[in-house]
Amino acid sequence: MQKFKNYVNGNWEESGSNKWFKNISPANRDDVIGEFPESSKSDVDKIVKIARNAYKTWKRMPAPKRGDILRKAGDIFTSRKIELAKIMTREMGKPTFETEGDIQEAIDTCYYAATETRRLFGHTVPSEMENKMNLSFRVPIGVCGIITAWNFPIAVPSWKIIPALAAGNTIVFKPSEDSPHSANIFAEIMEEAGLPNGVFNVVHGAKEAGKALVDNEDINLIGFTGSTATGTKIAAKCGESNKRISLEMGGKNAQIVMDDANIELAIEGALWGAYGTTGQRCTATSRVILHEKIYDEFIAKFKEKAIKLRLGDGLKKETEVGPVINQKSIDKINSYFKIAEEEGLKCVFGGKRNFDGDLDKGNFIEPTLYVDVPQTSRLFQEEIFGPVLVISKISNVEEAIDAANNSDYGLSSSMFTNDVRNSWLAVRELEAGITYVNAPTIGAEAHMPFGGVKGTGNGHREGGWTAFDIFTEWKTVYIDYSGSLQRAQIDNY
Ligand code: UN1
Repeated sequence: MQKFKNYVNGNWEESGSNKWFKNISPANRDDVIGEFPESSKSDVDKIVKIARNAYKTWKRMPAPKRGDILRKAGDIFTSRKIELAKIMTREMGKPTFETEGDIQEAIDTCYYAATETRRLFGHTVPSEMENKMNLSFRVPIGVCGIITAWNFPIAVPSWKIIPALAAGNTIVFKPSEDSPHSANIFAEIMEEAGLPNGVFNVVHGAKEAGKALVDNEDINLIGFTGSTATGTKIAAKCGESNKRISLEMGGKNAQIVMDDANIELAIEGALWGAYGTTGQRCTATSRVILHEKIYDEFIAKFKEKAIKLRLGDGLKKETEVGPVINQKSIDKINSYFKIAEEEGLKCVFGGKRNFDGDLDKGNFIEPTLYVDVPQTSRLFQEEIFGPVLVISKISNVEEAIDAANNSDYGLSSSMFTNDVRNSWLAVRELEAGITYVNAPTIGAEAHMPFGGVKGTGNGHREGGWTAFDIFTEWKTVYIDYSGSLQRAQIDNY
């Protein structure tokens, strides 16, 4: 079996632990991609030292030169897009048209960040005194520990890593154990693009490696995407050691459909939002808040289309919905099927695993729909991270917005309507970092702020210009060319 390694200081290295974990295809448990190092605390500590050392020179490289390297990375991602998409699909399951989109987000991020290195604007403002100049500009933070989930193995790490590098930071990246191969390709591309040794490093592993990264005193910032439970624990740890922490966590995103909406469009939106990526997006549509006047019609037409979605291996051209990631995920989704039964929810389709033919070898769960779901239901409130949608009925726009806001999370939201008043109410009132009008809750673009409120985040936004707020500090500068001592607030008043 192929053994993969960590990427350290420009070399491929085994872990000192000599422990390994297996990377298995979720579409076929007989397909083992390889073994990856289960790194220890001493591996992590060693790699952080290397990244700290590399920081000394990387931060001094002119930002536009760093941008040149990142632009080249965008070119290489582009030329390897199709090949890399297949590698990603094999290890995490989503169909190749989706994994190609995942890589496209990284390409967009590389090109965006590369151009941003020629701006990285600061502020120059007048001083309150004569012959004095005040300015402020961005400086890097230091060594960033990046911990991410498996559902967007290239896109989500790129949202953090690429702007962090553009700003002059160095990186220790611990990818998910479910998508380590994509992370190694990420490293290959960074190396080929010309990143100096030690600027970007990959350490594979599980809890011990993640914890060592968070605990390491030489790490200045943790960028985390994953569950709210884990993220808030990490944030508490980072608080103790005064590390900056940027969190992207859970979601329970609602799509409102008003009686004046284009129903066919709203159905297409909900199908893609709920079952795209097998519902395994933090932005996935997991609730439809549906107006009573179109309730039955929407559900009937939605069912007709949803039951035709082709479940299967994402490497097959005809597949529309891939497997879920692993046994833990199957167990979690099954536990919600049980809860639905106990709560007496009405299941319209799905609600079970599919073992037909080849599907028997993988983690295939049927797209599922529950209707007439009360807002008190655990399926209305809790993040399931699978192809499970609930529909609840409302009778006016205020009720719809209240229902959507009845959640501990606040990442994405959507309203389908042709009424201009309804659409602006949604934009103003929905408690979420992102609101779509006449589009599903998924589909963020790389140059726009991405993040959520309430249990979803801690105030940071990835993507676009806002990513630089995470990965930089401000340096404030006063230059006094008066030749005499000017005491602020005293001599000038
Ligand atoms: C995630 O699920 O962590 O907006 C990110 C979207 C994608 C990104 C999802 N572009 O759905």
